[in-house]
Amino acid sequence: MKLSNRILDLAGGGDAWAVYFAAREMKAAGEDVIELSVGEHDFPTPKPILDAMATAAYGGHTGYAEIPGVAALRAAIARRVSDSTGVATGPGNVLVTPGGQSALFAAHSAVLEPGETGLYIDPYYATYPGTIRAAGGVPISVAARPEDGFRPNVRDIAELAAQTRARSLLINTPNNPTGAIYGPDTLAAIGEVCTARDLWLISDEVYDAMVWTGRHVSPRSLPGLTERTLVVGSMSKSFAMTGSRVGWIVGPEEVIFHLSNLAIHTTYGVPGYIQDAAVFALGAGAALESEVCAPFRRRRDLARALLDRQNLVRSIPAEGAMYVLLDIRATGLSGTDFAQALLDAERIAVMPGESFGQAAAGHVRVALTVDDDSLRDALTRLIEFAKSRAG
Ligand SMILES: Cc1ncc(COP(=O)(O)O)c(C=O)c1O
Repeated sequence: MKLSNRILDLAGGGDAWAVYFAAREMKAAGEDVIELSVGEHDFPTPKPILDAMATAAYGGHTGYAEIPGVAALRAAIARRVSDSTGVATGPGNVLVTPGGQSALFAAHSAVLEPGETGLYIDPYYATYPGTIRAAGGVPISVAARPEDGFRPNVRDIAELAAQTRARSLLINTPNNPTGAIYGPDTLAAIGEVCTARDLWLISDEVYDAMVWTGRHVSPRSLPGLTERTLVVGSMSKSFAMTGSRVGWIVGPEEVIFHLSNLAIHTTYGVPGYIQDAAVFALGAGAALESEVCAPFRRRRDLARALLDRQNLVRSIPAEGAMYVLLDIRATGLSGTDFAQALLDAERIAVMPGESFGQAAAGHVRVALTVDDDSLRDALTRLIEFAKSRAG
């Protein structure tokens, strides 16, 4: 039976995840592999959040929940966004979604006609092109170069937007995989292009609580951008709730109205007891969120101290998120070959930069998602390995 081309072509082919799966196989075969490849906490959801989830479930909140999100959660998200951005945001600006991933799909579905171009920045979170395809769009990447600290050049965005008649631009700050944070000037310049080319700006801010240097600015708060920006947020990273699948879109009320309609016809909302747990977490104050995020700051500092002792393996400053992107071009190897050789020789799994597009070729991404001692050990061995390869 024939399947749709849309589904057959979704993932775009390629074997960008080969090293990741090879590491998984080694682990399954009982080998001792240090996995620095997965963007997920090495600890479970904090107990108070799980207690709130259990109380809600045992209290009976197990039926269909309000589809755009329960009132208390929409209000809590709106408050969080108003407080952090200064932009007046109400429950009508918020749609609760099953995680940031679902929000990315919904946002592109809202703004792209079939066949229209959605731009995104390379290097990118691995699902971006497939998500744009799933929403019927054509994904086209704009390279952000290592020599620019992996910030996009706005002239490139403007040129590609004109050439492709793009309808949207997807950005991500703090960034996976680079750890870069886009400052107000970069965001304002991006905003000007979006205004000039009449692009929707889809701003993936799922790492907004993981900021180690400077501060996070949401482009929705910049002049003229509130009405053309759709912000994607999530409980996954800030509260270690990756498996609970709860996130959101914040945007103009009209968009949220139509996206609620999409939710009725696709996800049918998010379980009520999970939403109640999210209400608890967001209301618990900054301490809980800081507790979840603190290990990644500490490990970022640890990684930086190790990297500063040598200058073969370089890195742009990891300003946020849970990753360090290492430049291993001095070894003469591609990111893919380096990652495979490191796995074979040292049983250390990292993600090749090429898994995130072309712009991070010759790099590898280290996820700071193992305990401090394992990270120190793995990075020390990685640097020694790079030295041996560089001769
Ligand atoms: C940049 C980015 N966006 C979105 C997501 C999706 O997160 P979730 O669907 O768990 O909210 C991730 C997950 O790793 C990510 O790194």
